[in-house]
Amino acid sequence: MRWKLKNRYYRVALFLILLMLVGGLITQGQQRPSPITQEIFATQWFQTIKTFSNFTMMNPNSLRELEATPTPLTSNENVISNLDALNISSSGEMRAERILKVEPYEYILNEPNACLLRAPFLVLLIAVEPKRTDARDAIRKTWGNESMAGDLGFIHLFFMGVNNDTQRKDSKLQHTIVNESRQHRDIIQQDYRDGYNNLTLKTLMGMYWITKYCPEATYVMKTDSDMFVNTEYLIQKILKPKGQLTQKYFTGHLMTDYSPNRNKDSKWYMPPEVYPGRQYPAFCSGTGYVFSGDMTQRIYAVSLSIPRLHLEDVYVGICLAKLRIEPVPPPNELLFNHWRVPYSSCKYSNLITSHGFHPNELIQYWKHLQKNKYNPCKSQTKG
Ligand SMILES: *[C@@H]1O[C@H](CO)[C@@H](O)[C@H](O)[C@H]1NC(C)=O
Ligand SMILES: *[C@@H]1O[C@H](CO)[C@@H](O)[C@H](O)[C@H]1NC(C)=O
Ligand SMILES: *[C@@H]1O[C@H](CO)[C@@H](O)[C@H](O)[C@H]1NC(C)=O
Ligand SMILES: *[C@@H]1O[C@H](CO)[C@@H](O)[C@H](O)[C@H]1NC(C)=O
Ligand SMILES: *[C@@H]1O[C@H](CO)[C@@H](O)[C@H](O)[C@H]1NC(C)=O
Ligand SMILES: *[C@@H]1O[C@H](CO)[C@@H](O)[C@H](O)[C@H]1NC(C)=O
Repeated sequence: MRWKLKNRYYRVALFLILLMLVGGLITQGQQRPSPITQEIFATQWFQTIKTFSNFTMMNPNSLRELEATPTPLTSNENVISNLDALNISSSGEMRAERILKVEPYEYILNEPNACLLRAPFLVLLIAVEPKRTDARDAIRKTWGNESMAGDLGFIHLFFMGVNNDTQRKDSKLQHTIVNESRQHRDIIQQDYRDGYNNLTLKTLMGMYWITKYCPEATYVMKTDSDMFVNTEYLIQKILKPKGQLTQKYFTGHLMTDYSPNRNKDSKWYMPPEVYPGRQYPAFCSGTGYVFSGDMTQRIYAVSLSIPRLHLEDVYVGICLAKLRIEPVPPPNELLFNHWRVPYSSCKYSNLITSHGFHPNELIQYWKHLQKNKYNPCKSQTKG
């Protein structure tokens, strides 16, 4: 007992001495840049990225080549050492430097003026497969309809790549998409291969797009095309009270203490050689997460030094961990659902996301919800 107690005192003393040494090193050896210097540095860095990308706009091939060969992370036990491994991985750094020199994928359809008239309060970044015209139409008629934003403006944009169906000669699908784009002006299509396993790339291209064409957006939400999103609730009840000046804000359905899935048959399989750690850092379900506009630039910039993992939400979580920005839980647990909540106008007027909708259902429930808008909890009938 006595020895143990003594030992404990020694440990505490040793810890304190170490702490003082480290503290001394930090304050003396390293001049801490002021927040303003940091901001300027970040802005300049991003400018460099932009200039470089501009410079080699004509040669997106090197990025493609990089896509094909993901750099494995070095083996490590826990999350933090894993992130440190990411930092010191020299191939990762090289990769970043090379990516800095290329423009993100060429735009097939773009809306460079989407944010020109008025800086939107909220941008909905919706990942969608090219063929899901029906889902896009349903979203335009329901939660993507910008006329119900009230005093604060929002816009929705669909992000997609290309696939065999869109690239076929005289592709009917591509014609439809071009028509759709002319009519609604809400499609950003780029020359990368579309597919579930490229969702990380799609999301990063969305982040890049917002940084480049919509840097004044106050908030951004990334979501999918099979979702119900209560845009009005999100704006009026969550974001508006937070105001215009929020920074480093990130929220959604929080997933903490998740371990990589090692079952090869799973949709969420993560090969140990790609992510050797036992646990993922905290992340928000990719079905819908919301963040302040400054985050698009931060996430895109930090992503350049992190090998891409195919699980988009996990990947964004790793970016956040590397940025040392913690996702915060939403004000209430029932707001962001990555499953399907049984419909009632009462429940749906008090949540932000619900998952797994066929376009027809979305329209049907939406109509019911609008009809009962001013008294959603009076009758609990189904729509
Ligand atoms: C990109 O190139 C265009 C035309 O060459 C030029 O006008 C523009 O200033 C460049 N943008 C950046 C960020 O360098
Ligand atoms: C991260 O990388 C930088 C530059 O290579 C290096 O100076 C720093 O020590 C690294 N940090 C950690 C925690 O490994
Ligand atoms: C959006 O809502 C407005 C007002 O409710 C309506 O007039 C308009 O037709 C809707 N747009 C679409 C694409 O449904
Ligand atoms: C797309 O086309 C290429 C070449 O024509 C073919 O090798 C590939 O399997 C096709 N992919 C899909 C998903 O059909
Ligand atoms: C695209 O729109 C044009 C004119 O509005 C129409 O003639 C054509 O059939 C449409 N094509 C498709 C594939 O929807
Ligand atoms: C993602 O897109 C890039 C660019 O088109 C392509 O090279 C890569 O094979 C795609 N990856 C997957 C997993 O589809």
